Amino acid sequence: MKPRVVVTRRIPDDGIALLRSYFDVDENRDDRPYTPDELAARAAEADALVALLTDRVDEALLARSPKLKIVANVAVGYDNIDLAAAARHGVAVTNTPGVLTDATADFAFTLLLATARRVAEADRYVRAGRFKGWLMMGFLGGDLNGATLGIAGFGRIGQAVARRGRGFGMQIVYQDEQPAPEALEAELGARRVDKDTLLEHSDYVSLHVPLLPTTRQYIGELELRKMKRTAYLVNTSRGPVVDEAALAKALRAGEIAGAGLDVFEREPEVHPELLTLENVVLAPHIASATVGTRTKMALIAAENAIAAVSGKTPPNLVRA
Ligand code: DGY
Repeated sequence: MKPRVVVTRRIPDDGIALLRSYFDVDENRDDRPYTPDELAARAAEADALVALLTDRVDEALLARSPKLKIVANVAVGYDNIDLAAAARHGVAVTNTPGVLTDATADFAFTLLLATARRVAEADRYVRAGRFKGWLMMGFLGGDLNGATLGIAGFGRIGQAVARRGRGFGMQIVYQDEQPAPEALEAELGARRVDKDTLLEHSDYVSLHVPLLPTTRQYIGELELRKMKRTAYLVNTSRGPVVDEAALAKALRAGEIAGAGLDVFEREPEVHPELLTLENVVLAPHIASATVGTRTKMALIAAENAIAAVSGKTPPNLVRA
């Protein structure tokens, strides 16, 4: 009898095909997140769980999953998983680093450009039949060339965003607990600064920190006040890194020029005030959503699950 894997949401077919070569696959074709009880009922008999960031993997679930050897998260982030509880239950946890770096950096830049150049607002204007002729003073936005791009969190994705910024002629500053290697700083023309300097000097602030107790509300009322009134904020990391109510207030009051958000504090809820503002571009957590990237993410999760259940060390183990 084959071991059993539960796949909690729809993932690309290539990932399912690889899983089928080793497992009996229990796949959620409805693509609706399971309730905690539904998930626990399915995981009770599973050797592996291929999970998405919409699944909460906590003590309660793990206690009801006695056969489980691995939770293979199909994401680079893993804040949906209680790592300490997984360690207590001897369950390995893996993620999918690397393969989504470029897609996510591309999307951070898409939001940056869309926000600075008011693309979503302009699109709404044209669709509403309001375009009556060229305007010298309409839809003025922010310049990129020569502007300062502040990157909070200088891991793989932050660095990839810096590369894109360089291509647009931007000056790069970054904030991270760890300094980047000198050669990389030289290659990217990047300078490490403290958080206040980053906020005060950047024309664009792009967030790439993981969600940790220390990064929750990394951007709140105080931080927004430190930013330039002409600055733009982009968040493709995790929603709770930004205090959404404070951001909505700052955007409405013109304390910053605009924001581009791919992630939200209480997904899928969006702070109602953000929905009423023109100077924010909103996306439904799609930064890694390209066919190629999502396929690679699914394949990597499948490889991790197969490795763990066949007694090998999975390649992308994360630790508490
Ligand atoms: C991740 O991988 O953590 C993203 O948020 C979804 O791709």
